[in-house]
Amino acid sequence: MPSNAADADPNAPAGVDPGRASIARMYDYALGGKDHYEIDRKTLDDLTRVMPETLHLAWENRAFLIRVCRFLATNAGLTQYLDCGSGLPTAENVHQVVQRLQPEAKVVYIDHDPVVIAHGRALLEENERTRFLPGDIFEPATILGDEVVRAHLDWERPIALFFVATLHHHKGDRHAPADIMREYIAALPRGSYVAISHLFDPGEGADSESMRVFQEAVARGSLGGATARTRSEIEELFDGLELIEPGIVELANWWPDGPHLEPLNLAQRLIVGGIARKV
Ligand SMILES: C[S@@+](CC[C@H](N)C(=O)[O-])C[C@H]1O[C@@H](n2cnc3c(N)ncnc32)[C@H](O)[C@@H]1O
Repeated sequence: MPSNAADADPNAPAGVDPGRASIARMYDYALGGKDHYEIDRKTLDDLTRVMPETLHLAWENRAFLIRVCRFLATNAGLTQYLDCGSGLPTAENVHQVVQRLQPEAKVVYIDHDPVVIAHGRALLEENERTRFLPGDIFEPATILGDEVVRAHLDWERPIALFFVATLHHHKGDRHAPADIMREYIAALPRGSYVAISHLFDPGEGADSESMRVFQEAVARGSLGGATARTRSEIEELFDGLELIEPGIVELANWWPDGPHLEPLNLAQRLIVGGIARKV
């Protein structure tokens, strides 16, 4: 008997290891999609036993991404988007939200996950104004030099750069993501915007302890770890930019669509983000 759905799937894309969870597929599972395997469901279910509100990390994150798209397409009038770590296509994708508001908007999606590359590409490249590029977003020189990124976007005009729920998946040196972001930010034209969401470690108190326990649980699973950052570490990711109101806050508090009817739960307090502008 195959041990999981990936073993049973003769169409599983090359590069998929059925014994290892993938963050793209776990996130798809959390959002109610269909591109996930048993190992992804088990890994997410294990995390939910450690932190029962875990699914809210994904839900808040996706809702933040969509509000950010609406803000940038309307208030900022942006027509160019570079979405680093796009994830699998879901109900509302970046190009659908921004092209509804700015029909001429161009989007380049980048991801390295084999399932995103295999199945997502066709859906994300829905029209001639969207492109998908397989690549490692933690290699800024390669991404910024890529022919598709250079040709599809006009680097003389403002660009929205998204690193939404991606930087905490960087596996190397704790301070490397700040350097990676500096390289991207240096390349952006003036008037560009950067949107980041990130797992948050408050640094002290009960929530910080909960985040420590959660990170240990992630590290025990096959995903291989995730790194929550403190407020000052997250501020550093926006180095040289001007933060837009309300700054770096819980995603649930970043221009919510309405008042909260309940206090924020643990997961909602442990994922933060914001938008900043290059002036
Ligand atoms: C949690 S999902 C977030 C998807 C989307 N940004 C969102 O917020 O809805 C993180 C995505 O980043 C991608 N990712 C992580 N590390 C990456 C890397 N080094 N290069 C390209 N993509 C990466 C994963 O494959 C996954 O699809």
